[in-house]
Amino acid sequence: MPMEISVTGNAAPVPDDRLAEILSAPGFGVHFTDHMLTVEWTPEKGWHDARITPYGPITLDPATAVLHYAQETFEGMKAYRHEDGSIWSFRPEENGARMARSSHRLALPVLEVEDFVAAVDALVRVDERWVPDGAGEKSLYLRPFMFASEKFLGVRPSQHVTFMVIASPAGAYFKGGLKPVSLWLTEEYTRAGRGGMGAAKTGGNYASSLVAQQEATSHGCDQVVFLDAQEMRYVEELGGMNMYFVYDDGHIVTPATGTILEGITRASIIELAGKLGHSVEERRFSIEEWRDDVSSGRIREIFACGTAAVVTPVGSLKHAGGEIPAPADTGEAGGELTGRIRSALVDLQFGRAEDTFGWMHRIV
Ligand code: PLP
Ligand code: COI
Repeated sequence: MPMEISVTGNAAPVPDDRLAEILSAPGFGVHFTDHMLTVEWTPEKGWHDARITPYGPITLDPATAVLHYAQETFEGMKAYRHEDGSIWSFRPEENGARMARSSHRLALPVLEVEDFVAAVDALVRVDERWVPDGAGEKSLYLRPFMFASEKFLGVRPSQHVTFMVIASPAGAYFKGGLKPVSLWLTEEYTRAGRGGMGAAKTGGNYASSLVAQQEATSHGCDQVVFLDAQEMRYVEELGGMNMYFVYDDGHIVTPATGTILEGITRASIIELAGKLGHSVEERRFSIEEWRDDVSSGRIREIFACGTAAVVTPVGSLKHAGGEIPAPADTGEAGGELTGRIRSALVDLQFGRAEDTFGWMHRIV
């Protein structure tokens, strides 16, 4: 039986004129809608008490397990407004399935995909007016998350778990708009090892990326690239995006190591690129290949992708020993195929192209 969700409306929603101001320049992750969704779990009752209430702070006992042992998982997805006013999400069941895998890794209970999608849909319906129009590719970023909410300092899986969804109108993730991002290769820090949590979307992975991101910033770079933990040789991903390398014969390589977060954008691009006539190889990809194949001109374009960042062109890669320049075909807004793949994806998401894959899910 699908989860029942009660709704308590916000008696003091953000006024229309203020909302219009926010939606005209939403930034990323700074403004939040009028409501939030909460569901609780205990071993006795399973998932229960699903409710939408006014957005606001939550009270946690200082001994709440997540604050000490970081037992939590999260997702990132978006709701898109189409020109006819309807509102859609993109492959939400994939986010639900990934959250189930992440939760399994973090010893958290699994929320059924059907309930995950129903929860997200319910919040979007209540906060419908917060979904910006699609001009400038604005959307409503959705953040489902689950955390250990038991008050207990012993190290064991929490016996009280809370799932929530919050939403935040979003513009471009990178402030500079669509231009190639510069990368820093960290040779000191890794993101994930064999048997670790790399494939899970859990806060600890992002906490551990921050010092490497600081290293990148201190070298004047936008984002950090992680290598595999065992050999420090194979490219994994950026702190919040997967990577693609476009070759001169048209084929594309994307790293697959077993320790990356397998993005839904990544999986979708593999199919979209195929439709555009480009085969995609998923395999280990070494830093030497990056260096040699940019140098020989075989790599023509590099891009990164993720829900927040969509498809973002990549420029040069700095490292302690020097720099690998941007590939030859990197223009001011990235390469030509990067642009075509980006358009194919966003046209689909914003309803400007036919959804031949059946990826879009109507909410309103
Ligand atoms: N890799 C990491 C570490 C991420 O945080 C994200 C963002 O969610 C991605 C890759 C891309 O995943 P997706 O395309 O599902 O957003
Ligand atoms: C996303 O793209 O949804 C992410 O989660 C990346 C980052 C904002 C954490």
